[in-house]
Parts: sequence; structure tokens; C-alpha cells
Amino acid sequence: MKAELVLKDLKAHVKGTIAECCLAIENGKITKIGKEPKMPKADTEISLKGFLVLPGLIDVHVHLRDEEKAYKEEFYTGTAAAAVGGFTTVLDMPNNSPVTMSAETLKNRMEKAEEKILVNVGFYCEFPKCLGEIDEIIDAGAVAFKLFLSEKVGGLNIEDDTALAKAFQKVASRTPIAVHAEDKSTIKRVEERLKREGKKDIGAFLKAHSEKAEFEAVKRVLKIVEKTRARVHFCHISTKKGLSLVVKAKKAGLPVTCEVTPHHLFLSDDDLRRLGTLALTMPPLRSKSQNKALWKGLNDGWINVVGSDHAPHALEEKNADSIWDVKVGIPGLETTLPLLLTEVNAGRLNIADVVRLMGENPSRIFGLEGFGSLKEGFRADLIIVDLKRELRINASRFHSKAKFSPFNGRVAKGVVVKTFVSGQLVMDEGEIVAKPGCGKIIKYEAKTRE
Ligand code: DOR
Ligand code: ZN
Ligand code: ZN
Repeated sequence: MKAELVLKDLKAHVKGTIAECCLAIENGKITKIGKEPKMPKADTEISLKGFLVLPGLIDVHVHLRDEEKAYKEEFYTGTAAAAVGGFTTVLDMPNNSPVTMSAETLKNRMEKAEEKILVNVGFYCEFPKCLGEIDEIIDAGAVAFKLFLSEKVGGLNIEDDTALAKAFQKVASRTPIAVHAEDKSTIKRVEERLKREGKKDIGAFLKAHSEKAEFEAVKRVLKIVEKTRARVHFCHISTKKGLSLVVKAKKAGLPVTCEVTPHHLFLSDDDLRRLGTLALTMPPLRSKSQNKALWKGLNDGWINVVGSDHAPHALEEKNADSIWDVKVGIPGLETTLPLLLTEVNAGRLNIADVVRLMGENPSRIFGLEGFGSLKEGFRADLIIVDLKRELRINASRFHSKAKFSPFNGRVAKGVVVKTFVSGQLVMDEGEIVAKPGCGKIIKYEAKTRE
């Protein structure tokens, strides 16, 4: 037996524990994990003494933009940010220009991305107006559907539960549905009153995007899940009450999972007021007691995924006279893993938790077979981590086009030093060293065949 590459003298997260071992890579796959004497001969051997090897992580919540929103982010810059941040697979959200909501827009997007991406990319699609198009969209390779309940993005009337139920029914046995759970009519009722009163500050935004708005949306969706048994993944849960509904549903055996973002874990509305509109995001940053509830949910195992909700914007768009005109969202691909590794160093999380939340669970929930774990036969998507190295977060040096962060200036401990995608070194010490196009487009159909 021979291999292209053997990584040796390393510590790796394998089968739930940290083991001293070597990894052999051939044809983009991990062919052997074992002790040095058992390893095949290799063309190249790299000694990684002192480093930790983890599976390349999966970020299930990324807005890569490009096309008509390329001024905010491009496939290349977004996937470069992913590679630097330790993500070798990302799932792209559909609120693009044009909106990804048909087989045609999806195929176009895949075609445009193919030559530009540095990591693997799967695509969400919004629901089309005509549900008859759903099969065609899945056949074109959508990994999952996305439903925004805070405003209309796709083809459905988001205030009509019967319409939602029909759509859920249609995809129920096929792909998962990711939901942005903030209820539009609950938001708008308050927003319109505040606008009439001339309110346009951060406080007004927080009143409109209330905890109740999340609660109402989660409640509505769960009723539909009960009826249809569709597999629903709740994006960026931000409140104790929203989470408790999800937990109750899980206990009742409903097929639901949920995600939390680093900004909802680490930042509060105090930070939002301190940092201003730069930190404005949807759902917004909440009180410290909500942060605490999310941490408890995470530690108790109720939260399945940490997703960055990487939502890049041009800096000018983050400022406006009125809060209602500010573009919401913050970039997260380059800060998520360092922030979590800092928690590992502080003893508040384990490496196994990080791999579970950003590797194993995303892979299981979104059916990404062969991704998110270090196993023989799995993809050689891996990251080399220096757990002891410190990094001061410097947004001006992001690979993302969005060079701002509410975490700017924070010191994190735990840095990704190399990222491999399909056995190819893509990022080395913060530099992109591979040509664009080395990431793969992940298609729903293809993933079971590979
Ligand atoms: O803060 C957000 N930004 N929340 C969303 O739901 C959309 C996102 C974006 O696309 O900018
Ligand atoms: Zn969202
Ligand atoms: Zn998002």
C-alpha cells in the first residue's frame, strides 16, 4: 500500500477521543489512521509534532453572496475566510440576488461557484412559489430548503400556515428545512408603531425583534412539524423561551434540531449598545440572561450545531441615520472556531464538543456522508490546530470582504494553522496556498453516491 501524503507525530480527534497517531491520504480520502509502523509509504510525509488534527469543520449557516451581491462577498473571498477559519465545508444561504429559489437559479449559482471555491459548498434553496418545482430543485442538488419567517424571501406566503404545511409536506421525506424563526407579523406590528412614533434607534430595533417574535415563529413551525413530520433545523436560536419550545418538541420525539451562533453565545445587548449598528444582526443580541440560557442548552446537549451565520455587508451599509435602514448581519467565518477553542482552553468546552457541534452533527443533520469526522474512507478534509497559540482578532485582516467584527480586538487562544481540503493544502499559516476551484460542490444526489 502507498499513499500520497502521510501526516505523522500528531494528536488527532478520532472516535471521540484524542489519540496519538498518523494519517495517510490518497485520492482525497483518509486511507489509514494508525501508529507509525503500520503506515504505508508516502510520497510526502509531514511531521506535525505538538499540533492537534481535527476533521475539517462544517458551517451550515453561511451567506456567501456573490452574483449581484459580490460587492459584499464573493465565492472566492467567502471560501477563503472559511478555510482560514477551519471550515472545509459550508452551506450557502439562498437570500441572494437573484434569490436561489428555482432549479435554474440554483444551477447557475453552482456553475458560477465551481471555479471559484476553495472549500466544499452545498446550497440551500428557498421555497418556490409553485410547489411542483420542489422535486426539480432537489434533483438539481439543493442540500436543504431555507425558510425566512421574518420577511418574505422566497415564493411562499409566510403568514399562511396552510401554505407552509403544504410546502413542508412536499419535502418532508427528502431534505431538511432550515428556518429563520422570527415571526414577521409580530415584528411588523411593533415596527410600524415605532416608525410612526419616529423611533429609529437600537432600542426600537430590539423592541420590534422581540423575544416574543422568536417564540411565536418557533411555535408556529412546531405545529406544522407535528402535522407533516418534516425535518426542521432551527437557525440561530437566541432566546430561552424559543429554546425551551425546541427542547419540548425534541422530548416529544419531533424531528427537529437547532443551532446557535457565537455572537448569541458571547455577546449581549450591552455589547450591541457599546458597538452600535456594526453589531446589528437578526435575531438581535439579547440580554446576558439569554446568553446564559443558550450556554446551558449547549452544555446540556440540546443545541446540535454552532453555525457562524456569516452575513457580510459593505461597511457603509452598517451605518445609517435610521436603524431600519442598517443592513443586519456580521461576518463570522474567521472568528467562530478561535472563540470556541478559547473556551476549550478555559475548560468550558471539550474538543469533542467542538467536533460534535461543527462536524459530526452538521454532517448527520444535512446528510453529508463522509464529512465532519476523521475516519478511514472519509474525505481528507482536515485542519491542523495550535491550541496554545494566541491570536488578537483583527477584522482589517479578514479574508472576507467584510472587514468588521464585534469581536475585533479580542484575544482568542487556539488557532488553525493549516487547512486541507480533499488532501490538498489550501491554507497555511493564514495564507491561501491553493488555486480556486479546489473545493467541491456538494449536491444532494451526489453525496450518497460518493
Ligand atoms: O442578521 C442577519 N443577516 N440575519 C438574517 O437572517 C439575514 C442575514 C443576511 O443575509 O445579511
Ligand atoms: Zn437568519
Ligand atoms: Zn443567516
